[in-house]
Amino acid sequence: MIINRLAVIGVGLIGGSFAMALRRAGAVGRIVGIDSDAVNLSTALSLGIVDEIADDAVSGVAGADVVFISVPVCAIESVVRSVSAALPAGCIVTDGGSVKAAVVRMCDALMPPGCRFVGGHPIAGTEHSGAAAAFPGLFAEKRCVLTPGLTADPIAVETVSSLWTAAGADVCHMEPGHHDRIFAEISHLPHAIAYTLVHAVGTADVEGENVLSYTAGGFRDFTRIASSDPVMWRDIAMMNREALLASIDGFSASLAELRRRIDSSDQAGLTEFFTTAKQFRDGIV
Ligand SMILES: NC(=O)c1ccc[n+]([C@@H]2O[C@H](COP(=O)([O-])OP(=O)(O)OC[C@H]3O[C@@H](n4cnc5c(N)ncnc54)[C@H](O)[C@@H]3O)[C@@H](O)[C@H]2O)c1
Repeated sequence: MIINRLAVIGVGLIGGSFAMALRRAGAVGRIVGIDSDAVNLSTALSLGIVDEIADDAVSGVAGADVVFISVPVCAIESVVRSVSAALPAGCIVTDGGSVKAAVVRMCDALMPPGCRFVGGHPIAGTEHSGAAAAFPGLFAEKRCVLTPGLTADPIAVETVSSLWTAAGADVCHMEPGHHDRIFAEISHLPHAIAYTLVHAVGTADVEGENVLSYTAGGFRDFTRIASSDPVMWRDIAMMNREALLASIDGFSASLAELRRRIDSSDQAGLTEFFTTAKQFRDGIV
């Protein structure tokens, strides 16, 4: 066992799966769940994801060795602010948020003396939300990026790292801003494009036809992630604004280049464009 008591604030897909994975690994003694959605919280209790639930975050963090925050990224600051004074001495606070620089900066500033903040981001997920969507194998053989803040010490980083390893993840470390620029490209941009594509096609008018009724495998595969929680993605777009805008600008330039080659019937240019992209894609699978 790595820690005696874990408090999970936000027992949804990520928080619930983390709790289940740690329980299965025998890494945690007791798990308390806290969530602003009472129905979701009672689902988490009835599914055995948590051992007990707390009415509020302040009572929930009492006696916790580690507090794991897995709420939408714009809510992390207010959650940490609300529990800060109640954190037990020596408590380690960590999170699973998809954006890191702003979160680490805010949480570091809110840590009371003796408490440590270690930012984290599991590179695993699905388009489903809530405790009912959680499963213990979500993090198996997936990366988890740790972005320790200024308050983090080696023991706190090692403890959080051990928990993610017990949950099945491969842990790596990154500077928070570097994390945000990388994940703007490979996660936040693809979600923005998937939402935009469905938005554009869903509102397209082709001689009055309902275009979406003709979609098949390709469109559905490509746009699966546009079924993700809109609030979560609103928060990620707001919190990683600059990096995401830069990624969108880079994508827009690529799309404009493709458009130029189509417009000028540049057969060789189109073949080169698609071949280069296919080679990149084939190289990652
Ligand atoms: N879903 C993914 O693919 C994925 C992957 C990696 C990281 N993340 C990050 O993990 C975090 C959680 O995402 P999720 O997919 O588990 O979402 P989720 O909607 O499944 O769970 C979030 C939970 O937080 C609760 N919550 C919201 N505000 C709260 C508050 N102020 N206090 C207490 N509880 C609150 C909600 O009721 C919900 O149960 C987000 O920060 C997200 O960026 C998500």
